[in-house]
Amino acid sequence: MRILRFLRSSVSIGKDIDYYSKFSPSPLSMKQFLDFGSENACEKTSFAFLRQELPVRLANIMKEINLLPDNLLRTPSVRLVQGWYMQSLQEILKFKDKNADDEKVTYDFTDAVIKIRNRHNDVIPTMAQGVVEYKETYGTDPIVSQNVQYFLDRFYMSRISIRMLLNQHTLLFGGKVKVNPAHPKQIGSIDPHCRVSEVIRDAYENARNLCDRYYMNSPELVLEEFNEQGKSATVVYVPSHLYHMVFELFKNAMRATMELYGDAMEYPSIHAQVALGPEDLTVKVSDRGGGVPLRKIDRLFTYTYSTAPRPSIDGSRAAPLAGYGYGLPISRLYARYFQGDLKLYSLEGYGTDAVIYIRVSFTLTVCVFCSAGFTAFP
Ligand SMILES: Nc1ncnc2c1ncn2[C@@H]1O[C@H](COP(=O)(O)OP(=O)(O)OP(=O)(O)O)[C@@H](O)[C@H]1O
Ligand SMILES: [Mg+2]
Repeated sequence: MRILRFLRSSVSIGKDIDYYSKFSPSPLSMKQFLDFGSENACEKTSFAFLRQELPVRLANIMKEINLLPDNLLRTPSVRLVQGWYMQSLQEILKFKDKNADDEKVTYDFTDAVIKIRNRHNDVIPTMAQGVVEYKETYGTDPIVSQNVQYFLDRFYMSRISIRMLLNQHTLLFGGKVKVNPAHPKQIGSIDPHCRVSEVIRDAYENARNLCDRYYMNSPELVLEEFNEQGKSATVVYVPSHLYHMVFELFKNAMRATMELYGDAMEYPSIHAQVALGPEDLTVKVSDRGGGVPLRKIDRLFTYTYSTAPRPSIDGSRAAPLAGYGYGLPISRLYARYFQGDLKLYSLEGYGTDAVIYIRVSFTLTVCVFCSAGFTAFP
């Protein structure tokens, strides 16, 4: 009886995936997020949009998961991730025919969105674990590796975009008040006046704590701003995304510096520069950790590529300074999500400059769903 019920629900979810994946995700601009959040944030409108948009986004990426090599699909971790996506899709579809004017319905929907967001908290390490299990069992064929890299870029980008929608909804409608007491000026997760230097200092301090724990010491930070008005640069942005990127760059810069200078008691500082122009806000993080040869630069953006020992995955130990090989590729996705970019320039034998580009003109910034149109693997 149970098996029959399971089979029936699998067939029906398969049909739903087929149906919703035929729609393309709606591109949203930063301005749309802001306008909606600031002026006329209405739970009913958000509900009506999300109950169609979330199934489209979930189904599109689930279709792509299904195209992974069978042996990767069969790993327990990838199955677990697939299970989370199926359950979330089913939960959203329960609201398909519900009355948007019924307050109980919109309340339950917001509740469901919060549950879904929490369920997907560990998607990145779990999917990463699946890839590690697969590579350890079946080795690393270059073509398969290239396809997996292509898939992971799209998969994680889709996750960033879905999470942005879930976060906006829960931050705007999940509490009793619309305003977040910790960040009253933020619109959901977006800060219309994100103070770039503050985020940079915060990320540096946290990276430094990790570095101190591993190396008993850490390089200093020299922060400079270049800005026409001579004021501290602000930008319309999601502070948590900026934090994520600079935190990863600082950890990398610190590790390179500490590894190169070994037991020396003095270390060259890490320089962070912020420049604000009419089109771009640029953040450069420079270290003197010895650099990387040009031949290897692209490889640094490969998921799981790391020159640090692999940390244990069970999460019982303190957060590591490095070792998963996810810092750079995921940070680049965050930068690209709002049509910016993240690049590395290295002077081998000296050090590395990592540069984050953020678009200033938020009215033109359209959030990306996946990194490019799907091409059934390159
Ligand atoms: N500033 C840098 N100087 C020298 N090498 C670097 C620098 N930044 C990154 N790398 C190299 O690139 C690799 C990949 O970096 P990435 O941040 O993606 O992963 P990681 O630091 O090894 O692990 P984690 O996912 O925990 O950040 C590093 O292991 C290191 O070898
Ligand atoms: Mg790193």
